[in-house]
Formats: sequence, structure tokens, C-alpha cells
Amino acid sequence: TTSMNLLFGLPLCLLPFLPHQPLLLNTLLYFIIPPPSPLITLTYYKKPVFTHQGYMQWLWDVDGKRYLDLFAGVATVSVGHCHPKVTAAAEKQLKRLWHTTSIYVYPTLHEYCEKLASYLPDPLKVIYLTNSGSEANDLAMLMARLHTGNYDIITFRGSYHGGSPQTLGLTSNTAYKYPIANGLGCTNTMCPDVFRGPWGGSHCRDSPVQTTRECSCAQGHCMANEQYIGQLKETFATSVPNRIAAFFGEPIQGVGGAVQYPKNYLKEAYRLVRERGGVCIADEVQTGFGRTGTHFWGFQGHGVIPDMVTMAKGIGNGFPMGAVVTTPEIAASFGQGVHFNTFAGNPVACAVASSVLDTISEDGSQQTSLKVGNYLLTQLAKLRDKYEIIGDVRGKGLMIGVEMVKDKVSLECLFCHHCFPCNIPSLLFLPPLQTFRIKPPMCITMEDADFFLAVFNKSVHNYMERRGG
Ligand SMILES: Cc1ncc(COP(=O)(O)O)c(C=O)c1O
Repeated sequence: TTSMNLLFGLPLCLLPFLPHQPLLLNTLLYFIIPPPSPLITLTYYKKPVFTHQGYMQWLWDVDGKRYLDLFAGVATVSVGHCHPKVTAAAEKQLKRLWHTTSIYVYPTLHEYCEKLASYLPDPLKVIYLTNSGSEANDLAMLMARLHTGNYDIITFRGSYHGGSPQTLGLTSNTAYKYPIANGLGCTNTMCPDVFRGPWGGSHCRDSPVQTTRECSCAQGHCMANEQYIGQLKETFATSVPNRIAAFFGEPIQGVGGAVQYPKNYLKEAYRLVRERGGVCIADEVQTGFGRTGTHFWGFQGHGVIPDMVTMAKGIGNGFPMGAVVTTPEIAASFGQGVHFNTFAGNPVACAVASSVLDTISEDGSQQTSLKVGNYLLTQLAKLRDKYEIIGDVRGKGLMIGVEMVKDKVSLECLFCHHCFPCNIPSLLFLPPLQTFRIKPPMCITMEDADFFLAVFNKSVHNYMERRGG
């Protein structure tokens, strides 16, 4: 029982309409389970899905029931569960060398770093490997502070950048906070959310789907962007010293619900941060590795080049791994001490991650993200226009958010589990419960998309009938 609960502490939701082909969606349902042992006290479900096996976009539970995985273990399984090419690469490396540390030289590490660097623009060519996203962001915080000599770091409200004691300060989402001293030198600023924020119009986003808000901005002139930048300036004027260390931002806010900012926001924000001595850090933990479809990295869609990029999740298709990529100049400032990390750059992790890069290219995963993602977005937008309770559809590629509302006038949040008869009798909460986050493995097909859309449509339709409207 212990390992079962640990295994399923993941935000997955069952849609048991079609018994032989149910679907997984995340709803971030969160439960405190009476502890079955002193070790494990929490999972997201009262009756967690007891997953047993995975293959590409599919998962099977212990009873042999198949699920279409639309969440990929939080955007982590990039090319597919147990992808044969990646599995073969791991097996090969397991038979050759499991472990040494990065103080020695071994081919997998160096081959991988060279390969990863070739995916990044100049001057982002120095790579530090880690074991997770939190570790990558921890390291980026340290490097930014050492390089700039400044301490203060700004992030967006609603963001998640990790759960370690340091990154908890970056994370600006109450659900993940603990009542202990944290976040010294970390300040959050308004997230430029063009759907739920005070400003937004019908041209703001870099997405096939815009909000339904009215907009009278002239082409190339976004009023919402100016207002949100005004909020950032307000933060500079009131909450941090003149000189800052860094600004952390995801190209699309992941845990916050696939929130997209106005086009050009990041460009202007980066300029303002650099004016104050800070470095700009793109957290690509969710948006990287082709998921946004148009580009390999989310930052490329904003027309910016960060000073540091942090990555994890999709980098290893589920194998524990992360990285910080930065400039030689910032790396030089970090060289004053000895940086050591036993497992970072583990030979098996490097072999897996190297194979993930090859697989993304050979399987055309980024192209799949674009094609299937655009299809999903445009079809979901039709459902939004049809149903009162679908407030917003947004995102790029296979990084999609569908925000549910009680009605389109009040925009009051409607929690996803109210419209989806999950196998869960009761729940506590973990925001943002109102947004379905759709981030499947990038091997999903158009047929899978149609299947999901049919189930989603039926669920919303049934809910509206039950509600009487
Ligand atoms: C954007 C983002 N950054 C960082 C992290 C932390 O990564 P990890 O859980 O690997 O520590 C997450 C995890 O969900 C994330 O979504």
C-alpha cells in the first residue's frame, strides 16, 4: 500500500465513460489520506489509479485497463512512455557504466552536453547538469546572485519553480508554500494573465486561440501589455532595491494553468531587468523540448534570449534529470568555488537524455506538438463558444489550458471535478482546480485528440444537463 500511494501522488483524473478506453486528465485533486504507514501521508486521489505499465501515450492499470495519458506525469514524458529507442539507449548504457562522477571524463556526459548546447543559441553554451528542476532553479538562483552581486529575484504570481527551501521563495502559489521562513530576497509581481487579469484583449496571445475579451488596440500596439509592464515597473519602484539579481519566468506559466502573457511582455521585461543589473532566466522545465510546437524552446516564441535557461522533466522523458544552461561570462563568476553534485550528469541519465534529443528529431515530436496542438486548441475553442462553463482555451502546441467558469459574466471558478464524474468521492483542494492542463506525451495522434474531444464534449454536455442549462 505504501508504494502504491507514493506511485500515484500524481494529478491524474479518470474519465470512466468508455470503460475499455478511459481517458486521463489532470485536475489537481488533492487528498490527505489516512496514513497507511508512517511513511506516506498524501496522494491526489482517494482511490489513486494503480498504474502498472506505460507505452507511448498509453498507461495501463493493474487490472489491465488502458488510459490515454493527457498529462504525461506533469509534461514530463516527452516522447512517450518506455519509448523503444530511449529504452534501448538506457539498457545499453546500464550494461556499460552506471556511475562515475563529473570530476572524471566520460564520453556520454561530453557527447550529451555538446548535443544539448547545439540546440541553444549563442551565448548559451555552458551546461550544468542536475537531477531535477528544483535543483536547476536553485543553482540558477545561486549563479545569478554570484554573478550580479545582487540578491533580489522577481517571479510571477501563480508560478511554480520548485519545492526546495530556496525555490519555494520563487514559487508564488499558496498551495505549495509552508509556514516557515522562506523566500528571503524573492518578490513576486503581477502575472500578465490576459484572461483573468485586469487587462487583456483579442490579439494579446501568441496562440491560435485568443480570449473572448473585446479589444480596440491598433495592430502592433497592445494596451494590456503596457498595463502589465506598468505593474512590473511598480514592483521595481516599491518592492526591490535599485539593483536586482534576476527575473525568473516561464515562457508559458505551467502549474498556474498554461497562462500566456501578452506578446512582447517578456521582451520589455527583460530590458527593464537588465537595466537594473539583473539576469533573465527562462524556466523551460515544462515548455522546453519542442512542446510549444513552433519552437524547440518556449523563449524563442517571445523573441528573447535569456541569460540562463533551466530545464528538467521532458529532458529525460521521465528519467530524473535537469540542467542549467548559461553564458561563459556567468559561468566564470561561478568558478570561484568548487561545484560538486554526485549524481548530476550520471552516465545513464546522459544516455537517456541524448536519445531523447535524437528521438524528438527522428519522430518529429515538435511537429506533432504543433499539428495536434493546433487541432486541439481550435476544436476546444469551438466548445468554449458552445458552452457557458468553458471560460478560456489557451496555449501553444501540446501545452494547453482549459479554464472552467460558472458563467462567462462572473468568471467565477468552476472546479473541474464538478463537471467530470471522476472516481473520487470527496476532495480537498490544490489550485488551480479550475483549469484542465493538457500536456500529453508528444506522440499523441489526431485520433487520440478526437477521442479526447468527444469525451470532453460529452462530459460538459452532461454537466450542463444536470445543472439545467
Ligand atoms: C516550471 C517548473 N519549474 C520547476 C519545477 C520543479 O521541478 P522538479 O519537480 O523536477 O524539482 C517544476 C515542477 O513541476 C515546474 O513545473
